Amino acid sequence: MLKISSLKKLVTDSMAVDLGTASTIIAVKGRGVVLDEPSLVAINELTEEIVAFGQEAADMTGREGRDIIVKAPMIGGVVGDFERTKKMLAHFVKKAKTGGSNISLQAVMSMVSDVTHVEQRALMNAADEAGIGRVFMMEEGLAAAFGAGVLPTDKRASAIVDIGAGTTNVAIVAKGSVVHSTSERYGSNAINDVVATHLRRHRGLQVGEETTESMKANFVSTFLPDDISKTLEVRGRDVQTGSPAAVEVTTGELYPIVEAVVRRIAQLVKDTLTELRPEVAADVYDRGVILTGGGALLDGIDQYMRAYINLAVTVADEPRYATVNGLIKMFDDPKLLERVTNNELHVLQNAEIPFEA
Ligand SMILES: Nc1ncnc2c1ncn2[C@@H]1O[C@H](COP(=O)(O)OP(=O)(O)OP(=O)(O)O)[C@@H](O)[C@H]1O
Ligand SMILES: [Mg+2]
Repeated sequence: MLKISSLKKLVTDSMAVDLGTASTIIAVKGRGVVLDEPSLVAINELTEEIVAFGQEAADMTGREGRDIIVKAPMIGGVVGDFERTKKMLAHFVKKAKTGGSNISLQAVMSMVSDVTHVEQRALMNAADEAGIGRVFMMEEGLAAAFGAGVLPTDKRASAIVDIGAGTTNVAIVAKGSVVHSTSERYGSNAINDVVATHLRRHRGLQVGEETTESMKANFVSTFLPDDISKTLEVRGRDVQTGSPAAVEVTTGELYPIVEAVVRRIAQLVKDTLTELRPEVAADVYDRGVILTGGGALLDGIDQYMRAYINLAVTVADEPRYATVNGLIKMFDDPKLLERVTNNELHVLQNAEIPFEA
């Protein structure tokens, strides 16, 4: 009789990990996206211990108990707090794993294109300590392109703009390689910041992250609304008295401050598109630009971008999952995986230029 336990079959999970500033998204080959949680940890300030991760930590945000503080260990798309990133990643990886402890793991992870030597090493070490046996690192822009449907065999160039929480990454991809890219540590979270600052300085109301996030998803728009007097009641804390309070804001009042953020992102795209070689520029002229990342969900951002850069602009399906969907596809094609992943630290980019006396 054949006993299952006697079959010493090595089971491997192939994972794709998009460790973002706002969210960590993990897909497992054959199972699709299995985890999508805020990149947050809740810490007991007295003991320094982590008491909650991800969604559970997010649910405490703004209403933390006296000794609890909620923190984002990833900043601007890179590891800001190594110890906590490591623990958070280990927690998520364990949660996303298919079965018992003896499942081996290989993972492909994304990294921002201008990642430094130090930042990349921190990510790789975190993956190592999370029990990932083999880790492949891949440029985020390329992953987002594949996830948005760009084919690795396509000879012509495609332009992908990933607007994340803390980064905006513009990648021009052809023949399965990044031919040009720019990235800025500035993303959709800047909208939350300007809205909160506006409310505090001009309306005397302090608001929390949950409030600005919900305003962004449901009220804010990047094209001048037909009805600029549409109002929303926003609740928070009165700056003067400290008491709970509410103010009414209008779409017309928020439009210019949000527009300034989106304009800066659109300008980065516009500038990048002026740096292309003629043939690449011709392809982009024909095909336009694809938006990915959670920032692409902002109401009207595609329209705004279209008008600003004068090219076709489309939003990828499931824009928040474009990167992870692209990463997981790499396990279907080992040759491509090998070619596009780069575990060599970016030595050249960060090397100091030797000083010759
Ligand atoms: N429905 C929505 N409307 C507007 N903005 C949204 C919506 N959903 C998510 N966002 C914004 O998208 C951003 C998160 O996007 P995403 O998950 O791609 O970021 P990330 O990958 O964690 O960050 P990064 O790539 O910068 O490291 C946040 O700023 C969030 O507020
Ligand atoms: Mg991202």
